[in-house]
Amino acid sequence: MKRALLFALSLAAGVAAAAAHADEAVERGRYLSIASDCMACHTKPGSDTPYAGGYAISSPLGQIWASNITPSTKFGIGSYTEAEFSRALREGIRKDGSHLYPAMPYTAYAKLSEQDISDLYAYFMKEVKPVEKLAPQTHLPFPFSIRKSMAVWNLLFLDTSRFAPDPSKDAAWNRGAYLVEGPAHCASCHSPRALLMQEDAGKALSGGSLGMWYAPNITSDKVGGIGAWTDQEIAQYLRTGRVVGKAQAGGPMAEAVEHSLSRLTDEDISSIVTYLRSVPAVADPAAERPAGAWPLRGGSTAGEAAIRGTGVQLGNGQALYDGACASCHGTKGEGSDDQYYPALVHNTAVGAPTPQNLIATILTGVDRTVDGKHVLMPHFSAGSYVQPLTDEEVASLASYVRQEFGPGGDVSVADVKIARAGGPKPLLLKLVSIGLPAGGLVVVIGAIWFWFRRSAKKKRGG
Ligand code: HEC
Ligand code: HEC
Ligand code: HEC
Repeated sequence: MKRALLFALSLAAGVAAAAAHADEAVERGRYLSIASDCMACHTKPGSDTPYAGGYAISSPLGQIWASNITPSTKFGIGSYTEAEFSRALREGIRKDGSHLYPAMPYTAYAKLSEQDISDLYAYFMKEVKPVEKLAPQTHLPFPFSIRKSMAVWNLLFLDTSRFAPDPSKDAAWNRGAYLVEGPAHCASCHSPRALLMQEDAGKALSGGSLGMWYAPNITSDKVGGIGAWTDQEIAQYLRTGRVVGKAQAGGPMAEAVEHSLSRLTDEDISSIVTYLRSVPAVADPAAERPAGAWPLRGGSTAGEAAIRGTGVQLGNGQALYDGACASCHGTKGEGSDDQYYPALVHNTAVGAPTPQNLIATILTGVDRTVDGKHVLMPHFSAGSYVQPLTDEEVASLASYVRQEFGPGGDVSVADVKIARAGGPKPLLLKLVSIGLPAGGLVVVIGAIWFWFRRSAKKKRGG
């Protein structure tokens, strides 16, 4: 009798322990889903149905809609086994065997550990509410409509090796490397893309275009990258999206900060900083000074551009600046006293070698909420509560801002048109639009490139 009672008690304790264990897996999975920012792409902004899809990633090839990844068996991933879930995340293959486009960052998630995949699976299956709704479907133009072509791409470019810790480095460095290369997928935005849209591994994190935005060089280079930032500045930027007197996070980086980075533990943020410090420096020949170190004289005056001999369109640009921007950013670009409205002098978006982020900020504004603090800059495109600006106006305004508060140079009307059309088109797409049969081309160029790379490796003896 006593024995049976003891047995029942220990059984109950065992069940409770197993349940606690499962809860821990769900909690770890929840944290990992935040670190991996699954929400950013899989949730329609402003909707109350998390992970139900309805958000399109605009790729240079067209709009790619993220799937419903709630555990609905009909419209979501409810019928995925853990092995199938793992294959989707790390190899880019759906349950039905079809290939995902690399807009889903499986090239980064390939680095995820077995344990993390399993925890994520527990979280999605047990904690996320099923949403019985079909997400919009993707229709890319031919030949990209053929998902099979991704099989060739994967063969060439997908590195399916898991993350391997470097025993010569400490735990913080290894944790940072894992987060940056795996879950937090910094490279999918910050690494340049080569001809076939693969990340250019030789230049990891040295900057890449992202629609109309430009994800800057975040290597340890002191001029072209963030080598001159202090540890504290990098940590603060990742946690809050702003460093007074230096940089703010707008566009896709604002989303990464809002949904993901601001919600990581201090320890993880500091590991990321440790790792970033060690990323090999990649210089930017176009960068004369760090992006946050313009103009040459702190706080400009209206005459300075003329002194530097670049007084082009100043009249118009200045009038536009005074009318549209100065009320918040100050007539001399000094920002408001409390810097809620940031200075435009010593500002990386203004001082960067490319004017892309300045143009993008004018066209889309800034809207970011972190720790309940909301920052808002209106956009100057159609549908804004402020007067929209024409391409010509944006060009002369941006030229004025660059000349007065940044590195100088003219922003052309063509630059603005490209931004409005969704950013620079990659060479691959240009080839397709002039009628080259890109499908075959992709395979041939890919094969040649791969062969070169391999023979180059061999020559180096690797
Ligand atoms: C940068 C955007 C982005 C992020 C971040 C992202 N996904 Fe995706 N995901 C996509 C897109 C886009 C697709 C659909 C791609 C396609 O149609 O080929 C997709 C597809 C999927 C699929 C395939 C579902 C199906 O059957 O169609 C799964 C599973 C998935 N994602 C899970 C996740 C999980 C889990 C995370 C976080 C660990 C995540 N995704 C993060 C963009 C993203
Ligand atoms: C979805 C794309 C995306 C992802 C993911 C992303 N970034 Fe960014 N990042 C950007 C863009 C775009 C900017 C420019 C933002 C601006 O100026 O408003 C930026 C800016 C930055 C800056 C400021 C650079 C400067 O010169 O002002 C740092 C530092 C940075 N990112 C680090 C990271 C790290 C570290 C990760 C990964 C943990 C990461 N980012 C992930 C797109 C991204
Ligand atoms: C109503 C006030 C307001 C007006 C008007 C305004 N801004 Fe801003 N601006 C802001 C705020 C707020 C931020 C974001 C601050 C932050 O991120 O902490 C910002 C950020 C910026 C940034 C940095 C963005 C980034 O992502 O790095 C630039 C550049 C900028 N503004 C330029 C302009 C220009 C040019 C104009 C005129 C066309 C303008 N602003 C008009 C309030 C304003």
